[in-house]
Amino acid sequence: MKTIAVISRKGGAGKTTLAVNLFAALRQAERRTVLADADPLRSTSEALRATPGDGGPVVETSASKLFALSTASARSGVERLVIDTPASPEADIVAAIKLADLCLIVARPTYLDLSAALKTLELVRQLSTRGMVVLNQCPPARRGAEPRSVAATLETLRFSGVPVAPRALRARLAYQNAIARGQGVVDYEPEGVAAAEVRSLAAAVEQQFVAEAAPAAANDAAAPRRARS
Ligand SMILES: Nc1ncnc2c1ncn2[C@@H]1O[C@H](COP(=O)(O)OP(=O)(O)O)[C@@H](O)[C@H]1O
Ligand SMILES: [Mg+2]
Repeated sequence: MKTIAVISRKGGAGKTTLAVNLFAALRQAERRTVLADADPLRSTSEALRATPGDGGPVVETSASKLFALSTASARSGVERLVIDTPASPEADIVAAIKLADLCLIVARPTYLDLSAALKTLELVRQLSTRGMVVLNQCPPARRGAEPRSVAATLETLRFSGVPVAPRALRARLAYQNAIARGQGVVDYEPEGVAAAEVRSLAAAVEQQFVAEAAPAAANDAAAPRRARS
């Protein structure tokens, strides 16, 4: 099982939106996925109309119960555990980061979100967990060019050597409408651009796990090439 923690110390960045949509996309791709709502605000379970303790794939939990949930999920054959986290306290975020194989750090393309994301990424690194920044609520590209806010954010992230999800999520009503109906955009509007964005994000997440498994194979492949030269 692989665990994905969706984190940001900024309220409103889009953790819940991203967690719900990633969960829906992974399930649509037939991954056995559980969504853990570790935020006491319970936005996720409210949005997906989960009933506490109903044995469904959306589980209300807390930082202190995450480890037990992870163990039980892995035992019952769950393939992906997505954790929606609160913006604070830091101890709760740390608990999710420690458990995760990958942290998705959600940030809007603004100075304050970026600076918070970079600090969070530092924490993720200190805890030896893989992190990837996902830009959310980005204004639309114009004639193929990124708006200045997105371009500047990407530039800073590149300069810091931070992994960034290849496709930013735009500010789209589809995300809000889908959640209002208790769905991810892949179910709400399967052919829409928002669904394409989310599928691309899910693919980038899966790619991280392939990359994680790859180094040994890459070394094996490199050896004969070195021997030949
Ligand atoms: N890509 C997006 N496009 C449009 N609205 C969004 C998008 N992402 C988030 N929102 C909206 O922004 C608000 C905050 O998002 P939410 O996922 O609750 O953030 P967080 O969980 O980080 O506090 C919500 O009203 C949500 O519908
Ligand atoms: Mg939330």
